[in-house]
Amino acid sequence: MRDILKTLKSEHDELRQLFADMEKTTDRAKKSRGHILNEIESGLIPHAKWEELVFYPAFKARADREGLKSHAEALQEHRAVELAVLPDLKTKDTGSVEFAGSAKVLGEFVDHHAKEEEVTMFKMARKLFSKEELAVMDEEYDQWKGSPDAAAALANALKQPSPEPVA
Ligand SMILES: [Fe+2]
Ligand SMILES: [Fe+2]
Repeated sequence: MRDILKTLKSEHDELRQLFADMEKTTDRAKKSRGHILNEIESGLIPHAKWEELVFYPAFKARADREGLKSHAEALQEHRAVELAVLPDLKTKDTGSVEFAGSAKVLGEFVDHHAKEEEVTMFKMARKLFSKEELAVMDEEYDQWKGSPDAAAALANALKQPSPEPVA
């Protein structure tokens, strides 16, 4: 049977692998760093958007106080990545040591967040949702990923301009 929690976990693992690949690059690997960053965004953004639009609200509707706290924490971590950590990384030259350092911070952030989801929210969700519900959510996620909405969310995030340099 399909299982949304397994799908989300395997996407976390794919992201972890991409950050490990990034960590192995040198400052001379400008092109492959740009390419890996693109893959990271293509994996991260639809995943996070769908969690925010569908999974988190469904989870919140059934969660107890501990669950609500995990939910609030997860949302705040998404905001930190979306508003600060990822945009900051995108202002850095891919051939610089600053890029390497910022990419590492984003990787650590994502790993921490993913681990929190896996050991708290997903564990709770196993009890809050039936196997059938988790299968339906997985099906719906798959369809959403191929939708214009998902493509627009990604395109919008990818074209975020870098902030104006301070004069
Ligand atoms: Fe998340
Ligand atoms: Fe996640």
